Amino acid sequence: MELTPKLAAKFETLENRYPVKRSALVPMLLYAQDEYGFVSDKMIEEIARRLGLNTVQVIETLAYYSMLRRKPAGRFHVQVCTNVSCMLRGGHQILEQAKRRLEIGHKEVTRDGVFSLEEVECLGACTGAPAMQVNYDFYEELNPCKFDRIIEELDAGRKVAPVARISGAVHERHAAETPLISKRWGLPNSHTLEVYRKNEGYLALGKALTQMTPESIIEEVKKSNLRGRGGAGFSAGMKWGFVPKDSLKPKYIVCNADESEPGTCKDRPLMEMDPHQLIEGMAIAGRAIGAHQGFIYIRGEYRYVQDILDRAIEEAYAGGYLGRNILGTGFDFDLCTHTGAGAYECGEESALMESLEGKRGYPRIRPPFPAVVGLYGCPTIINNVETLSSVPVIIREGGEAYAGRGTPKNGGTRLVCVSGHVNRPGIYEVPLGFSMKRFIEEVAGGVRGGKKLKAVIPGGSSCPLLRADEIDIPMDYDSLAKAGSMLGSGGMIVVDEETCMVDLARRIMHFYAHESCGWCIPCREGTSWLRKILERFHAGAGRPEDILMIGELAKNMLGRTFCPLGDAAAMPTISIVNKWKHEFEEHLSGGCPYKAAEALLGAR
Ligand code: FES
Repeated sequence: MELTPKLAAKFETLENRYPVKRSALVPMLLYAQDEYGFVSDKMIEEIARRLGLNTVQVIETLAYYSMLRRKPAGRFHVQVCTNVSCMLRGGHQILEQAKRRLEIGHKEVTRDGVFSLEEVECLGACTGAPAMQVNYDFYEELNPCKFDRIIEELDAGRKVAPVARISGAVHERHAAETPLISKRWGLPNSHTLEVYRKNEGYLALGKALTQMTPESIIEEVKKSNLRGRGGAGFSAGMKWGFVPKDSLKPKYIVCNADESEPGTCKDRPLMEMDPHQLIEGMAIAGRAIGAHQGFIYIRGEYRYVQDILDRAIEEAYAGGYLGRNILGTGFDFDLCTHTGAGAYECGEESALMESLEGKRGYPRIRPPFPAVVGLYGCPTIINNVETLSSVPVIIREGGEAYAGRGTPKNGGTRLVCVSGHVNRPGIYEVPLGFSMKRFIEEVAGGVRGGKKLKAVIPGGSSCPLLRADEIDIPMDYDSLAKAGSMLGSGGMIVVDEETCMVDLARRIMHFYAHESCGWCIPCREGTSWLRKILERFHAGAGRPEDILMIGELAKNMLGRTFCPLGDAAAMPTISIVNKWKHEFEEHLSGGCPYKAAEALLGAR
């Protein structure tokens, strides 16, 4: 098959990039789709030939990823998010407007082939909700008029400028903020090597390579009490220490930039505004564990962010911060990005490795843990973007100084991206242990429209919800656990008094049922049954016995799945049905009371 020169060049780079050729499969499929609008049978044969696979292997992998398609979409593929943060700010109205304006439904194409429409899960633009993507362009803070204008312009062959950077990341600093890893945000050209170098950039790498041993780097990170910022909260230094020193196999550092937990979009600004900080953190981590290769696994929707990272990586190679003999110290470290193609499950570290190896993102059974048997069967450390971006400041300032900014056992600062019903949705950096109540009231500006607070999802949609009377607590891993929830991924969603909690539970379960990989029966069956029951309940056809059944079904998923997705679906559901049982009961007599109120008041 003859490829366009651009695609042929991309394929060639990818075929030579990985230790195992198959790793190139998902990026090749996605880039081919970008070029031709879909993945044709001929393209499947071509990719299979290039990677030494058979077509069945390519097709079964392709079918797993929601961004990949085998039929053409419209020239402009409109993807409207209706997940929780967007739903709370009118995402469903945008979707309805899209259906009316384009006269098509979900996954349909207009007759002239210009537009196609898709209702999608969280795009990583929660602080700019409601949001959509057209092809890879982000449009945020939408309303029906703004939506119409974007479509009209596209139809006329023009383009409304998409957002240049995520909404809510650059703002006037609140006195409570302690900008360590976000301090360069908003500086002109903060993504460039020149600006990074002028602002303490790569000093930590120099120190790590010339004044520290791998052991002392790990010790410093342990002292900092840096805990994984992806959600699990495990000590980063301890994790690095698990890599066997005597292993003769290559070792890998993988950055988990798959950020797809609904409500979470704090890694996006770290990469778009300060990519060199992440690159520096990865090189230091590589030195600490003896890895000479790193991968940044980035979600497929973040294409422009990946472009920024790729340019920064090129600059870092040219500047001598990546590649052979870094800073003349004899240390070698290579780094590249790797695109995902739409699968929440791939944010789980073992599924991410499967995906990086060019397969479906199914989780692996553990033990063995990735630090011992990881990518390509070799010792691998996987850390989140925020975790790795915190490493340079720890090495520069020292672990103890960093730890001192948080609370005991919860070192440093945390990026909290707050969305939903607040006056100032955004991404803020506060010390760990900062009061949740003060954060919502002062930093995020309180509940919008003078309404009362009803619930808080503290750190992404998988966290058990807190009631308004439960939020007077410090925001750190241990305090949240004590309160029966989790600090999670830092994606806080604030919910006001006029929100239907049954509807919220329904939307959360819709997401997990959509994303369950289907491997474990409790997760596959549990999420789809719960979705159906919650949909029925919200539509006014619930039965009294359903309330108990919702709780029981969710409890039966807890701890019974290979990866945390089953728990992630169960935990918020259990908290909602326990804490807002009365709202379920209210639905038994005549459907959703909030819907009726909304219809009377008009769209909010
Ligand atoms: Fe819509 Fe995150 S972008 S919920």
